[in-house]
This record gives sequence, structure tokens and C-alpha cells, in this order.
Amino acid sequence: MQKNVKIAPSILSANFSKMGEEIKRIENAGADIVHIDVMDGVFVPNITFGMKMVKDIRPLTNIPFDCHLMIVKPEKYIEQFAKAGADYITVHYEECKENLGNVLQLIKSLGVKCGLVINPDTPVEKIEKYIKLCDIITVMSVFPGFGGQKFISEVLDKCRAISRLIDSCGIDCHLEIDGGISVNNCNLAVEAGCTVLVVGSAVFNSEDMTETIKRLRCGK
Ligand code: DX5
Ligand code: ZN
Repeated sequence: MQKNVKIAPSILSANFSKMGEEIKRIENAGADIVHIDVMDGVFVPNITFGMKMVKDIRPLTNIPFDCHLMIVKPEKYIEQFAKAGADYITVHYEECKENLGNVLQLIKSLGVKCGLVINPDTPVEKIEKYIKLCDIITVMSVFPGFGGQKFISEVLDKCRAISRLIDSCGIDCHLEIDGGISVNNCNLAVEAGCTVLVVGSAVFNSEDMTETIKRLRCGK
């Protein structure tokens, strides 16, 4: 059965000098979630923005905020992201490793939906035991750090496997895919069980954002 697909534009591809207008633009175009890529220049080779950005754009829309933390020691900042208005906070398995269970619990304890992210080269077995704790699981389909990279189609097998695990646990958990998604490959992600598509460059560079989001949601 095909599930309802949500589109989460990544503001990494927005024009930072007019972020308020960009938020309004994606809202008017039908975005379901705002994907906020937080990068520290250590966990990934790029720097973006932090909790102040989340706080400042929070009053502009009621769309849920999905904060993807690509930072070392995310536990140090989780409370601040929660207070700033995050609805989802996701952390990387590759950074948290054996502390992942505690970090997910910390996010939940603050009343925020929690999730884990895995890089393209991290196998599903590493995260199996954490799936039950998650509200969202994100499969990276590029190596994190930059927008506009090429989609790594090999991760689709992992999406299928995680989708099956989510179903077998009987939990209400989104499967998100992040990186290189466009109208040309979104159907593959949806067929592999993904329920949230993060889309950066393909949304912000499109001529008709409303039409692009509509097509992404239909998987074509
Ligand atoms: C990569 C980020 C992604 C990325 C998506 O580190 O996590 O969210 O910005 O952008 P596109 O869709 O351009 O790959
Ligand atoms: Zn992201």
C-alpha cells in the first residue's frame, strides 16, 4: 500500500539573504515540512546556521521544522534546538554510535519527535535496534555536506529494508530520504517505501515551485 508522501524542502538551497521570504515561498508552494540542515564544519566539511536561525524563522510559518544535525556532540545543543522550535530533531548514527539510544531519549524527553540519520555507507544492521525509538529515520542518498550532489541509487535497497523493519515493528515512523532527489527519481524513493522526501536544489532552482512540489509528491 502506498503511503502519503510529504515533501520537505531543504533551506540549504535557499537564498540566505532573504530567508523569511524563502520560507513563505515554500509554504505557498505547498511544502509539508521545512528541512533545516545544521552543519558545523567538523562533522561535515561545510558550515550553515544554528538554533538562532530556527528561532528567527519559527514565527513565520506553522509548517513543522525538521532539524538535521550534522554536528559533533549533538547532545550539547539539542535542548536549544527544541526551545528554538524544532518539531523533529535528527542525529547521525555515525556521530552518536553507542550513545544513540540516550540521545534519542533526550530529544523525546523535550517533547520533540526524534530520528536517526545514516550515511550512504552505513549498513542497516547498525541501526536495527534503535528503530523502535524513532519517529523518523533518514537515509542519506548523498554524503552529507552539500546540496546539489548526485543521487546514490544504491541506498534504495536500504530504504526497502528499513521500510520493512518499520512495518514489522508496527510503529508510526517516517522513512525520509535526503540528497539528490528530483522529479526524475522521486518515484524510486517512494516505491522503496520513503514517506518524506527532502529536496533542496530541485525545489529552489525550479521555475515553478508549486508544480515541482506537486510532482514530487505524486512520485513523478
Ligand atoms: C546534505 C543535506 C541535504 C541537501 C539536500 O548534507 O543534508 O538536505 O541539502 O539538497 P539536494 O536536494 O540539493 O541534494
Ligand atoms: Zn539534510
